[in-house]
Amino acid sequence: MTFDLFDNLDNSQDGYAPGSAPEPLAEGAVVLRGFARTQAPQLLDEIGDIAAKAPWRHMITPGGLGMSVAMTNCGQAGWVSDRTGYRYDPCDPLDGEPWPAMPAAFFDLATRAAAEAGFAGFAPDACLINQYEPGTRLSLHQDRDERDLRAPIVSVSLGLPAVFLFGGLRRADRPARIRLAHGDVVVWGGPSRLAFHGVAPLADGDHPLLGQKRINLTFRKAL
Ligand code: SIN
Ligand code: FE2
Repeated sequence: MTFDLFDNLDNSQDGYAPGSAPEPLAEGAVVLRGFARTQAPQLLDEIGDIAAKAPWRHMITPGGLGMSVAMTNCGQAGWVSDRTGYRYDPCDPLDGEPWPAMPAAFFDLATRAAAEAGFAGFAPDACLINQYEPGTRLSLHQDRDERDLRAPIVSVSLGLPAVFLFGGLRRADRPARIRLAHGDVVVWGGPSRLAFHGVAPLADGDHPLLGQKRINLTFRKAL
């Protein structure tokens, strides 16, 4: 196990343990603490480029409500919601253009995290990018708009810490509450692939790289 002084100082705050074993959440679900931390500045640069082409927006649910999370996408398909329902769309409905390509660094990170969690060969074709501000929440839901449910979901947390809610296969199952800090990665697949999950209202804070924001990347095999 190796760590430098900076990482060591951060240990107390974030539970960051470089090289530590995956932390089991449920069968098929793990947290990889700090897995994306060293790549985070590069990821944030790429996210800036993506949002310059496909801007953050608050999508409308089929019920007509605006989501509190701001979203964009990259990859061959992007997750979109509107009055007609949820779907993966190869183009951004705002301008009809294909979503920005998935940066190689994104694909590489997601594939390595999946392999670490026991899902070798993960080849994501879609990445949903969520942006949270203090007060933003994401209610319990399943990720089930993807065609092939054998592939896992890989979720990368950046910026302010959040409380991730990870439940069972029934909406009524009481979710575990897991603190996710900058650089933490969660992978869920196999028997946990359709687990209900969400994010508790984001607490205020000031992150050195992201200020009052949290950004989450979720990688999916959508097509
Ligand atoms: C999601 O469920 O799509 C995002 C989860 C998160 O922001 O941690
Ligand atoms: Fe989700």
